[in-house]
Amino acid sequence: MPTRIINTALYPVDDLTSKSSRQWLASLRARLDQDGSCLLADFVEAEALAIMAQQALSIAHLAYPGPTEVSAYFFNYRLGEVEELPDAHPLRRKGKRNLAQVAADLIPGDYLLSQLYRSQLMLDFLAALTGKPIYRNQDPYQSLNISIMNEGGCQQWHFDSGNMVTTLLLQEPESGGVFEYAPAIRSDSDENFDAVQAVLDGNSDRVLQNRLKAGTLSLFRGHYSLHRVTPVVGKRQRIQAIMGYSTQPDLYGSTESSILHYGPRVAEIEATNPRYPA
Ligand SMILES: [Fe+2]
Repeated sequence: MPTRIINTALYPVDDLTSKSSRQWLASLRARLDQDGSCLLADFVEAEALAIMAQQALSIAHLAYPGPTEVSAYFFNYRLGEVEELPDAHPLRRKGKRNLAQVAADLIPGDYLLSQLYRSQLMLDFLAALTGKPIYRNQDPYQSLNISIMNEGGCQQWHFDSGNMVTTLLLQEPESGGVFEYAPAIRSDSDENFDAVQAVLDGNSDRVLQNRLKAGTLSLFRGHYSLHRVTPVVGKRQRIQAIMGYSTQPDLYGSTESSILHYGPRVAEIEATNPRYPA
């Protein structure tokens, strides 16, 4: 096992106070502010990345497919049932979701991905970047996920519930599987449904594309930026880790959402030996 996971020669997360590090953080912040996304290519050392991908593949069979037709606002299920709105309204639309996720409780703690997720370096780096204390999501199933997309796999246009979702691509597909997003299309004060509808209809000029490489860490303001993954082409799976961080110290998702995304086993656990606080 290599002890070095993060490519600190490229990204000085182990020394955040030097002048050059502060300049680097300021440039990241500017990029995040400008288009809501910031990509750190080769964030993970090549040797560690190869182990992470192989470890992810070894538990890929534990991934649960979850729902296949999902609203852009999927963490707020009732939004999709507002019957007085026209059919074309974003709150009433659903898109195709074709992926499976390995839940946090099924990812062994000694896997390199778990070590990276739980490292103080990541918390310190994100805190220095945002200027706020950062915590790991406390949800027993949602905090750390591995998303597996087979050929044809895709994710519908959606907004994230959290404001600090961080992803790491572990394996690229042969082609397709492109990350598309409409930066800062909504805000806390304005849902901007007309612009969201234009994206859903495929006639928006706000949509940008990121072709991610394996090993790239992606910092993304997914709560305000509508985003999707286009269908994967070819046999090689697209494998991505989703690391849940938050400015909230005690963030849990809902049991309902975990059952939907990780399967009936969650309902069984919660009925017999609950992991969610009462
Ligand atoms: Fe997302």
